[in-house]
Amino acid sequence: MKSLGSVVELVDAPHSKCGTFGYVGSSPTAPTLMNTYSRFDISFQRGKGCWLWDKTGKKYLDAVAGIATCSLGHSDKVLRRKLSDQLKKIQHISNLYKIEEQEHLSQWLTKNSCAESVFFCNSGAEANESAIKLIKKYGNSVNQGEESIILAAESSFHGRTLATLSATGQPKYQKGFEPMVKGFKFFKYNDIDSVKEIVEECENNSQKVSGVLIEPIQGEGGVIPGNKIFFQQLRAICDAYNALLIFDEVQSGVGRTGRMWGYENLEIEPDGFTLAKGLGGGHPIGALLVKEKANIFSPGDHASTFGGNPFACKAALTVLEEISKRNIINNVLLRGDQLSAGFEELSKKFPNIIRGKRGLGLIQGLVINEEYADAKKITLKAFEKGLLVVPAGGNVVRIVPPLVISRREVQILLDKLNSIFEEI
Ligand SMILES: Cc1ncc(COP(=O)(O)O)c(C=O)c1O
Repeated sequence: MKSLGSVVELVDAPHSKCGTFGYVGSSPTAPTLMNTYSRFDISFQRGKGCWLWDKTGKKYLDAVAGIATCSLGHSDKVLRRKLSDQLKKIQHISNLYKIEEQEHLSQWLTKNSCAESVFFCNSGAEANESAIKLIKKYGNSVNQGEESIILAAESSFHGRTLATLSATGQPKYQKGFEPMVKGFKFFKYNDIDSVKEIVEECENNSQKVSGVLIEPIQGEGGVIPGNKIFFQQLRAICDAYNALLIFDEVQSGVGRTGRMWGYENLEIEPDGFTLAKGLGGGHPIGALLVKEKANIFSPGDHASTFGGNPFACKAALTVLEEISKRNIINNVLLRGDQLSAGFEELSKKFPNIIRGKRGLGLIQGLVINEEYADAKKITLKAFEKGLLVVPAGGNVVRIVPPLVISRREVQILLDKLNSIFEEI
């Protein structure tokens, strides 16, 4: 998972220590786990709402939420009750049979978005892998002998499977795993000339752009919101070249930006989009949602054993229904404004440390001046203050709390950040 990948990068050496918080890394305390994560040496025992408690009983305000995942916070009462009931009823069957919970969830999703059909899987990478296969099938069916090309953005992040890694515009993640899957080309995010250049290059080389995979706001790349004009022009290019425009809404979807779907901020509709993270509120579920034009999979084209099982679907349906019932999107907008205003004040107070702020709703980032501080060090300092934040690309401290965070909790978060910057 990329997000934990950014945690991997927090260490220069597997056993490095910083303050009182070090990393387990390859330490003998966890010799049975593969060495894929250099974990922080903290183990959380329980959570409630936006708070987590570690083994020693120390309390942390969670502005990470399992990396933009625990939409309703920890141990939500309704989610707990609905999932307990579901466990008593049925947990897993197979996609060989009709699954009622899956149908209810797909009905909710299609009724409340631009899509009209859904494929369920288990994670963001798997959802994007499905999208890549879909674009490939689309390209192969409409192109006449030309090689199909998929466009993706520089500094994007789409997952850790080979195809999604190949679509990820950050070579550092691809290093050591070459050769990548063929057929991807990269343009500069929010730069339409860069897109046009590549489309023309393809035309001149008997290649055809079959689709574009893009985040409406780049998360891991450094919390970079999509530019409305750029996305509208991108939509027009995709229409002109009969290419599918698929949004990766794994991090931006399900209310995170202050709209149910990130594409609503851009005033265009994609031909399809992917979801995961916040959809299950902490339970693994991913989805590819498409409009009619892109509804081209036939039986046998794609599948997933666990994808859309009754338990996962119940979790997602509960999250979505609770977001609506409790008017949580409105909370995201209000708390997002509060956070943004607080960031503005912090930027004025610490102009040497903070270069700027970016983001929408409850996915926001502070851009840290690398000459003064390192987002990774700030993350460690935050532990001492009882605060969880997560770094993103470009030396950004990323804030992605549960969508239910309260006004008081946002104020506590800002106060904790303030005291960290004062100490720096
Ligand atoms: C935009 C985006 N796409 C895809 C992924 C991969 O999701 P997963 O870790 O669930 O495979 C992530 C994870 O950080 C993401 O932020």
